[in-house]
Amino acid sequence: MTYNPRTRNNRGARSKAGEPVIVRVTKEHHIALARQAAQAIARRIGFKQAATYYIATSVSELAGNLVFHTDRGGSITLIPLERSDAIGIEIVAEDEGPGIPDMDLAMQDGFSTGGGLGSGLPGVKRLMDEFEITSTPGVGTRIVTRKWQSCR
Ligand SMILES: Nc1ncnc2c1ncn2[C@@H]1O[C@H](COP(=O)(O)OP(=O)(O)OP(=O)(O)O)[C@@H](O)[C@H]1O
Ligand SMILES: [Mg+2]
Repeated sequence: MTYNPRTRNNRGARSKAGEPVIVRVTKEHHIALARQAAQAIARRIGFKQAATYYIATSVSELAGNLVFHTDRGGSITLIPLERSDAIGIEIVAEDEGPGIPDMDLAMQDGFSTGGGLGSGLPGVKRLMDEFEITSTPGVGTRIVTRKWQSCR
């Protein structure tokens, strides 16, 4: 597990709140590490307690999917965002795993191919403000999700 801070532009919203952090997630215990990293960053940016909890929970779910639904895991990138009227965080979960053949099904509450509750992806969509998922069978899956908090 490595933390590799790197500099990157994020749609013009490059952050003064901190540089992106990449968490490699290949083993089960990395899920907790990713969650902790997200919680620490969300707190530092200034998210309130409930939103911090939503962000940390979303990262846990996405990291869990990397571990349980791919052979080699993937990465979670945590990107602090800053707008004139809001602070935010972008979470990017990426893998080169098997991909998701039926996205509508995967986004349904209760659908799981792994004996789980099937509440991870729909839960993340509910907890966060923006949610985009792209997946190609045999190529991999990329999820980009953001949470904002007004600073006015
Ligand atoms: N990164 C991924 N790569 C391939 N398939 C995925 C990935 N993430 C999710 N899936 C597929 O989408 C389904 C739904 O995911 P979701 O997180 O909602 O439920 P789950 O992981 O099965 O159970 P839970 O998260 O509630 O423990 C999974 O069962 C799996 O088939
Ligand atoms: Mg899941």
